[in-house]
Amino acid sequence: MKQYNVGVLGATGAVGQEMLKILQQRNFPVKDLRPLASARSAGTKIEFMGEQVPIVETTDKAFSGLDIVLGAAENDIAEKFAPHILEAGAVFVDNSSAFRLREDVPLIVPEINPEDVKWHKGILSNPNCTTIITLMALSGIARVTEIETMVASSYQAVSGAGIAGMRELQEEVAASFKGESYAPKAFPYPIAYNVIPQIGSRQFMGYTSEEMKMQNEGRKILHLPEMKVSCTCVRVPVLRSHSISALIRTKDKISVEQARSLIAAAPGCRLVDDLDNKQYPMPLDTSDQDLVFVGRIREDLTDDHGLNFWCCGDQIRKGAALNTIQIAELL
Ligand code: A2P
Repeated sequence: MKQYNVGVLGATGAVGQEMLKILQQRNFPVKDLRPLASARSAGTKIEFMGEQVPIVETTDKAFSGLDIVLGAAENDIAEKFAPHILEAGAVFVDNSSAFRLREDVPLIVPEINPEDVKWHKGILSNPNCTTIITLMALSGIARVTEIETMVASSYQAVSGAGIAGMRELQEEVAASFKGESYAPKAFPYPIAYNVIPQIGSRQFMGYTSEEMKMQNEGRKILHLPEMKVSCTCVRVPVLRSHSISALIRTKDKISVEQARSLIAAAPGCRLVDDLDNKQYPMPLDTSDQDLVFVGRIREDLTDDHGLNFWCCGDQIRKGAALNTIQIAELL
């Protein structure tokens, strides 16, 4: 099997570290690994395939000889280095939102639109984590009918704000036990024992940038340019798995029983839907694994083409690192 020289941009972050783990778990054909981060981390070593690999400072010239670069850094870093990645002849599979809506950049959930990798021009984007998890949950239904509208509320883990977000929740809880005060840094307010109904900045008619991703990215992935989505994104004190409550309206009526069998048969999904036995998706159960759990499937009481569901998925794995590596596998 051909082997590839793989770079991970942002290798020391929450998503980057998970990428390194998943590359090994899935036996991705890595010839040489180049973990890239800021000057702060350069020289420190990480273990990969039983070897100590030094972290390389990201510079314009740091990509030579690479075949694939997996992006796990913020937009500004992805934007700054993308031209140099392409110049070096590597393909850039990026997890930031910098290129997701560009017309020459495919936006991929491998279980939904794998064929879109074919028209890439060097950059491919990994969608927003909440969008991936929600679309995965409805992927079985989307295969048999159009999704016309969706009303969704997300309950997003602190891992969405990277290692700093996870550390902040843990430190705040620890500080509260000691009766100490804690000044939030990663979030605008304390996240321990709280929920914050803002993720991202104001973008459109009072909706935030994070909330508009579900519609804008969802349309591109599902090839449904008319789909309408109203979304409310909320940060909750959960470490690393996002949950979403969604009401979809489908073109053809889908019964609850049909929805259950479509979801149970959808690759990457697990149906967990037995209220009497208290079986439903919960973020603790979906953390550190690959499947999106879907349950609480109910007919909408206001519209007979409507279906409610609840889903959870690991934001760092399927919502980010795993999906990015699945895109690289398709390539
Ligand atoms: P570093 O650890 O050296 O700062 P997270 O969102 O989990 O905090 O991860 C952010 C990732 O982006 C880290 O790997 C971080 O590396 C990396 N990063 C931050 N600034 C830069 C930069 N200027 N160039 C390259 N990588 C960067």
